[in-house]
Amino acid sequence: MSAPEDWRRWVVYQVYPRSFADSDGDGVGDLRGIIGRVGYLHRLGVDVVWLSPVYRSPMDDNGYDISDYQDVDPLFGTLADLDELIAELHARGMKLVMDLVVNHTSDEHPWFTESRSSRDNPKRDWYWWRDRPANWESLFSGPAWTLDEQTGQYYLHLFSTRQPDLNWENPEVRQAIYAMMRWWLDRGVDGFRMDVINMISKDTSLPDTTPRPGSRHGPAFQYFICGPRNHEFLQEMYWSVFAGRDAHVLTVGEMPGVTVPEAVLFTDPARHELDMVFQFQHVQLGFGANKFDLRPLHLPDLKAAMADWQQGLAGRGWNSLYFGNHDQPRSVSRFGDDGPHRIASAKTLATVLHLHRGTPYVYEGDELAMANAPFTAITDYRDIETLRFYAEAVERPGADLAALLAAMARMSRDQGRTPVQWDASPGAGFTTGTPWLAVNPDHTTVNAAAQVGVPGSVFEHYRGLIALRHEDPVVTDGDFELLLPDHPAIWAFLRRTARAELLVAANFSADVMDAALPLDADWAAASVVLTSLNGDSPLQLPPDLKLRPWESVVWRRARS
Ligand code: NOJ
Repeated sequence: MSAPEDWRRWVVYQVYPRSFADSDGDGVGDLRGIIGRVGYLHRLGVDVVWLSPVYRSPMDDNGYDISDYQDVDPLFGTLADLDELIAELHARGMKLVMDLVVNHTSDEHPWFTESRSSRDNPKRDWYWWRDRPANWESLFSGPAWTLDEQTGQYYLHLFSTRQPDLNWENPEVRQAIYAMMRWWLDRGVDGFRMDVINMISKDTSLPDTTPRPGSRHGPAFQYFICGPRNHEFLQEMYWSVFAGRDAHVLTVGEMPGVTVPEAVLFTDPARHELDMVFQFQHVQLGFGANKFDLRPLHLPDLKAAMADWQQGLAGRGWNSLYFGNHDQPRSVSRFGDDGPHRIASAKTLATVLHLHRGTPYVYEGDELAMANAPFTAITDYRDIETLRFYAEAVERPGADLAALLAAMARMSRDQGRTPVQWDASPGAGFTTGTPWLAVNPDHTTVNAAAQVGVPGSVFEHYRGLIALRHEDPVVTDGDFELLLPDHPAIWAFLRRTARAELLVAANFSADVMDAALPLDADWAAASVVLTSLNGDSPLQLPPDLKLRPWESVVWRRARS
């Protein structure tokens, strides 16, 4: 029997099914491929698997456009395969969290085909239909309202034209969603990662927004981010779906643009909304007007972004911790050094992330230090966001397409979606066929076969971090204090409970770095728990540190 707070010790691993493991040689990952790798996940030590969507879908947005919430797409397998995956995970004490995409459906979902069939269809009001569109911009470029010729009205789609937004104001919509969620829980799933769940409550007056210069459309976040009924809907969901279940159901809400004060409300256990949210502050650093408008990323800004959330949610809410996922480029390429220091920097990133307070998310392949692929041409990409952004730029007179392609190689979502590198064979052990997205050529050296069970590997470092969280309460419970916030290259912090403290110090640069930590001299006698340079002692012990390139060290001492 687990204690009610046990879930706070869990580590989550994200599987993006399309790219994880292909069992049938069609070039696309599938459920049987995942089943074949459950032993690997167990060995890594993760507690929970979050599965990106495997539901029936026309795949306009790789499954984030769902046409049947209660079936598996044949591309990925069958419901029986999913049941087997759940059983295999449960047999090893692991859990499965499904993606829940209920801000929108696919345009092929029967709810939408009915809704669009006539103005007086009973499901007309399940989506947003208007005679006159607001001038909102879609998050995948272009307008967010599209005319449906047949009935002469416009419908809202914050994402692609094939992802119409559900109207959560309609209670029948909400009840249908809750019933579907209960069905999955009854089937054995252990929770949900909720896609853009802070977009479900809109400003119902749907007002126009300020257009971008030179455009009729503009971003309209203020009209759909954390809208007026967001908390009410999530509380209603809690009482309709989660309340009274025996085991803890894990819930995490993806929330672009959420602020710390809002997140405190979403994650305060007393309010019964969500366990945690994915905030975006730290992954929105390093660019300007859009993600392909790159700017230098300064370490003090990254540290501050993470520390704000540590302080802001301390005591009441709960953080989720991530550097990468299927919407982000590879974390070692973005925040680390994917050249000569790839291994040390991947370990250092993991160390810093996992030793913050909150639930760490391992994105598939990060535990192997997978890096961005050398993509150069637009034909290298499959992602709808990247392709649509590029298509718009092509239409814009004077757009610098070469610069855009260079930025895409650093920031495109497809960089996080290249197939997982299992071994050095031509398909990287991912597929025997032609992969749907190119395998990174570095798989000949960067792969699981070369790392699992190999001391000093990135995989074994992740294992160590996960085990540390399971064993040492200071990792889960300790307070967080950022040290040297303005240091341009050292990321250092303390974690502290009444019984123990951890000191984490990391060099985020390719140079030897000095740092005088504001700590007592006794730290020099503390024991080293983990290092990124395979047990080497640092050149100088705390409090006066000297760290080698991308070196990170974790010390622990008991408190008397
Ligand atoms: C967020 C998901 O993570 C992303 O992959 C998707 O494109 C959008 N939501 C729309 O569902």
